[in-house]
Amino acid sequence: MTFGFERLKRAIGFGVTNPPGPRSGVLGPLSPRDAYELWADDYPPMAHNALMRSEQSVVEPILAHLRPARALDVGTGSGRYIPILESTGARIVIGVDYSLGMLTRGHDKVHRICADACQLPFRRGTFDLINASLMMGDVADLSECLRSMCRVLSSRGHIVYSDFHPSWSQNGWRRTFHLQGGHTCEVAIEPHTIEDHLYALDQAGLHVQAIREPRLSLGNDGHAPSLLAFRRRWGNPPVVVVFHVMREP
Ligand SMILES: C[S@@+](CC[C@H](N)C(=O)[O-])C[C@H]1O[C@@H](n2cnc3c(N)ncnc32)[C@H](O)[C@@H]1O
Repeated sequence: MTFGFERLKRAIGFGVTNPPGPRSGVLGPLSPRDAYELWADDYPPMAHNALMRSEQSVVEPILAHLRPARALDVGTGSGRYIPILESTGARIVIGVDYSLGMLTRGHDKVHRICADACQLPFRRGTFDLINASLMMGDVADLSECLRSMCRVLSSRGHIVYSDFHPSWSQNGWRRTFHLQGGHTCEVAIEPHTIEDHLYALDQAGLHVQAIREPRLSLGNDGHAPSLLAFRRRWGNPPVVVVFHVMREP
């Protein structure tokens, strides 16, 4: 059964279906690598749906308290977090993504590097702060990715990252986007439990400072009717999980 309202998909940036399975008229699920090349042209460098807004409302204040000299944005996409990292006072801000399409959308004046988060091409201890927003849902091996980030992080450096909340797999929610021709595409999500994250963090030698689980907020959102309908159908579950972790000295 498809929950079936397009307004809702537009409002919160994902389609909600139950139970999981192929859907007619939907392309995919596509691998993240293929999907982001298609999505890049319509992926503005700002929080463009309610999910991103709730994520950013938690991540931005954490970043604002940090004073890095060198900051890295992993899975930078079109660069939503680049100005936010610059506003911390960091002298060097670099964005990494494996999608050339996404990097091409990013800020011209910022260093952008095409690379895989699981094999970051930097020296050990290069950065004081790493941000990785809504990227872990594309990564199968959390331990490999967190070890790669930890390697390039300085002693007592910070990582702030977010992932799709386990609510997604529990409820059978899917991530979809619309192509200009009208097609809807689904992007596969690698599901991770909170326990999976804690295990991978421990393996990588990273210490948890905070875990946050934001929900969709009505706020001044122009899509409030859709969000109210979402709440009627699903209650008000967390939609994102945010980790603030530090490297052991
Ligand atoms: C959902 S988008 C988020 C983009 C941006 N962080 C934001 O929140 O606006 C995820 C991004 O992570 C990138 N990505 C996913 N897996 C990656 C990997 N293993 N290495 C590098 N980039 C990756 C994708 O290409 C995509 O641009």
